Amino acid sequence: MPKARARFVCQSCGHSQPRWEGRCPGCGEWNTFVETMVDTKRKSRGRTQPTHGQVPRLRDISPDGFTRIPIPIEEFNRVMGGGIIPGSVTLVAGDPGIGKSTLLLQISGLLAENSDPVLYVSGEESAQQIKMRAERLGIEGTNLYVLAETNLDSILEHLEQLKPRMAVIDSIQAVHLDGLTSSAGSISQVRECAATTLRLAKSIQVPVFIVGHVTKKGSIAGPRVLEHIVDTVLYLEGERFHSYRLLRGVKNRFGSTNEVGVFEMCEMGLREISNPSQVFLAGRETDAPGSAIAVTLEGTRPILVEIQALTSRTSFGLPRRTANGVDFNRLLLLIAVLSKRVGMGLSNQDVFANVVGGLRVNEPAADLALAIAIASSYRNRPVAPDLALVGEIGLSGELRAVGQIEKRLMEASKLGFGRCLLPRGVGQKRLPKVEGIQLIPVRSVAEALDVALVK
Ligand code: TYD
Ligand code: MG
Repeated sequence: MPKARARFVCQSCGHSQPRWEGRCPGCGEWNTFVETMVDTKRKSRGRTQPTHGQVPRLRDISPDGFTRIPIPIEEFNRVMGGGIIPGSVTLVAGDPGIGKSTLLLQISGLLAENSDPVLYVSGEESAQQIKMRAERLGIEGTNLYVLAETNLDSILEHLEQLKPRMAVIDSIQAVHLDGLTSSAGSISQVRECAATTLRLAKSIQVPVFIVGHVTKKGSIAGPRVLEHIVDTVLYLEGERFHSYRLLRGVKNRFGSTNEVGVFEMCEMGLREISNPSQVFLAGRETDAPGSAIAVTLEGTRPILVEIQALTSRTSFGLPRRTANGVDFNRLLLLIAVLSKRVGMGLSNQDVFANVVGGLRVNEPAADLALAIAIASSYRNRPVAPDLALVGEIGLSGELRAVGQIEKRLMEASKLGFGRCLLPRGVGQKRLPKVEGIQLIPVRSVAEALDVALVK
């Protein structure tokens, strides 16, 4: 058994010493020491035997070998790439209170319904608190083992003994290794705890889910120290005061990262939403100015969202711009394009933009809908109710082509939109044909405005 001990390692030059110091004597940088578990056997590195003849050829390696454990929540399966890989470590990250514990308890409960044991370790809540939540979620938990513990050595001992079908550690910021002097939640603790867990998970082939809280800067325990250690990183996102939650794959060693699962937080925990567009468009007022429908793509799945804008005359000082769910700089850019290329007098107007349902839209393909929503509010003319919009806007007001247009059109058609405004690509030969939806290709925002706004 190799002996490990804690040392402080400079993140800049790699110098290591037993004590913390403000400035590294090796490279002179400040605040670079991070406590790390160092394997004392490592000194023999460099003298290891060469491994001639043992390295397999790519040709001889069999491609499969992953048997995934499917979860009866389709939205979760989709993000995981079809199921959980035994021995994999998945980080579920998100803001505090967003629903990470709820999601993982639900999954644990579902898996434990079969005869295999599942271990749920909580370093934040007592077993009674977990019981209360489980009752709310309707989890009986005959095979669900609950451990309220923060000492990682002890947790891993239990994990090794129980060898469950799956384990959850909630959260990585709450557990600690005894060998390190720094407190739980520090970079060194978080990193070492994750690495130790990963080693055990791989050796006993038990999939482990680790919960990680996102800190104020939007990273997990400092500079995203965990993301490169674990196999899969999922972010649970959503607005605190909206009930929709998006589970987004950010990294996945066993599948595509382009997937998004949509959930709603209800009384009985997270409920999956398999028809997000329908849900997001429910309650839309079709004749109100300032609302436009964008066909966005979340991962590989098209989702229709309503983008709203409101312009109102600035009463005092500089005009205000507020972006909710869209990128603030993108909003400024589109306002500038509308002012300069279409001649809209937005320089004395406050502009507020909002995506309905608390969703975040980062895709440039939603530019056109946002610009049209602003124009619609400014001119006080509603957007034609049967019109969906897709297109990126360039600085000269031109519309730029976006990817996977056919998929988007099919979704728009499915939801009953009869027409879609889209960019007329330069040199584009033919438009895709999708049943039930008329395509209106345009070259610029100005052209789009003529079509989109009701006279
Ligand atoms: P939680 O899973 O504790 O968040 P996290 O682990 O990410 O910090 O979720 C807490 C929130 O979820 C809390 O505000 C209450 C809400 N909630 C529901 O609305 N319904 C439920 O069934 C449960 C269990 C929680
Ligand atoms: Mg929690």
